[in-house]
Amino acid sequence: MKFVLIRTIINGRQYDLEVTGTKRGCEIGECGACTVLMNGQAVNSCLVLAPQIDNQEILTIEGLADGEKLHPLQESFLDHDAVHCGFCTPGMLMSAKDLLDHTPDPSEHEIRTAISGNLCRCSGYQQIVDAIKEVEGVSREQ
Ligand code: FES
Ligand code: FES
Repeated sequence: MKFVLIRTIINGRQYDLEVTGTKRGCEIGECGACTVLMNGQAVNSCLVLAPQIDNQEILTIEGLADGEKLHPLQESFLDHDAVHCGFCTPGMLMSAKDLLDHTPDPSEHEIRTAISGNLCRCSGYQQIVDAIKEVEGVSREQ
């Protein structure tokens, strides 16, 4: 499986950011597997150049849960059997978080629009839509 391991050297010490949850798919902005939040907005990270994240706030799937406590979206995806092979799931969750952070009670149309840039080859999308719908009304601060 492809993943990105970011290494950087600061003050002579090497830091490895082992954030392997974000997936690398098409690399041309079409599949959404690489979706992360940049300053709270979902972006295809494959289209973001490294210098563009200077001083920006990035949230990857690794930052969604609160320690051992899953985010309500993650719980809901599990409850609705919305995770099949799982390859699209990190990107789906980040797009869904962006949606719910900005639109607390989205319609089904708004949900489908929000995840329209995230391709899923397994689920048929309905379970994912249902999972996102059920999280309406839950605090978006997590
Ligand atoms: S890897 Fe497909 S949109 Fe980025
Ligand atoms: S669960 Fe397999 S691609 Fe979406």
